[in-house]
Amino acid sequence: MPGDGRFLKACRRQPVDTTPVWIMRQAGRYLPQYRATRSRAGDFLTLCKTPDLACEVTLQPVQILKVDAAILFSDILIPVEAMGADLVFTEGEGPKLSSVRTRQEAGRLHVPDPRLETGFVMDAVKLIRRELDPMVPLIGFSGAPFTLASYLVEGGGSKSFRHTLAWMYGDPEGFTALLDMLAETVIAYCSAQVEAGVQALQLFDTWAGVLSRRLYREFALPSTRKVVQALKHLGVPIILYVNGSAPFLEETAASGVDVLSVDWRLSLAESWERTRGAVALQGNLDPMVLYGGPAVIEREAGRVLAEAPLQGHIFNLGHGILPDTPVEAAQHLVEAVHRLGRKEI
Ligand code: CP3
Repeated sequence: MPGDGRFLKACRRQPVDTTPVWIMRQAGRYLPQYRATRSRAGDFLTLCKTPDLACEVTLQPVQILKVDAAILFSDILIPVEAMGADLVFTEGEGPKLSSVRTRQEAGRLHVPDPRLETGFVMDAVKLIRRELDPMVPLIGFSGAPFTLASYLVEGGGSKSFRHTLAWMYGDPEGFTALLDMLAETVIAYCSAQVEAGVQALQLFDTWAGVLSRRLYREFALPSTRKVVQALKHLGVPIILYVNGSAPFLEETAASGVDVLSVDWRLSLAESWERTRGAVALQGNLDPMVLYGGPAVIEREAGRVLAEAPLQGHIFNLGHGILPDTPVEAAQHLVEAVHRLGRKEI
């Protein structure tokens, strides 16, 4: 099968020649080539909505870093905009959305048809699949329901998530109805990406780490599970990323996904033990290591590899690469992982 190289094998916990590696946010501002394409687009959302430019930036890190997988260039908020929320990205400030804090406001949103209302995403996937080396798999993605709900309720990013938590505590049924609607949206959106040609899916539940174990179990887990159960039959590996999942790692593993993408707070050895080897692991280098220079990158990458399972490990950062990271550091990391991760098979 084209593209069925070491990344897809590791997702299925099969033997590989060396550890596969890709980097969250690998297409981004730390790359001068990305900044050049974005300035041609004019702004970030136009870049996301113009398939040939989205294709161009998706391919850049594959060529520049030699990573083992490409990830579709888009944003987790694209389907949320299609649901009916107004979305703007202001330079240096991150996303801003029209906020949804009541059942009545949620009632004005709809579950979008991904092919009609986010057709540019599916067109980008088809184009990328044509342009990308057939040996390199393409990862599609979506935000998970809880993280998408947090952006909708807060009207953007947040430190405290006070409006989201207030709604969860005050009106659990109403908040669950919003999660259900988001789960439907995510299922349709991811299914359309697979139909268009992605070979793996990553669900970003970036902010679920603000929840207690009890609240994770009660709200985020059931909505993630619903999504995973509905996507399983498509046959592509599903990866779940939660930043700060250590307090409820067992629950994230019980979501039914094939791979857990974990941050740097817990060692891979401990994560493997706590999940009893039931899922593959992706991660978990602290993105700050990339500021330490070649010797530090080499040492810390070696440490992650030493703690990783022999089968079922995809090397990645514990969160996205930061915009001022030196490109050479990312290149060095990929080269070091391929060299140090070599297996005797
Ligand atoms: O990984 C990739 O290379 C694929 C593309 C991708 C982007 N965003 C591009 C992007 C992916 C997978 C995402 C996911 C995403 N978007 C998440 C989950 C992952 C994570 O990092 O936690 C979240 C929370 C978002 C929401 C979002 N989008 C924020 C908070 C921001 C602003 C952050 C910032 O650094 O300014 C964005 C914008 C964004 N998404 C950029 C990129 C390359 C920067 C936009 C630019 O200025 O060019």
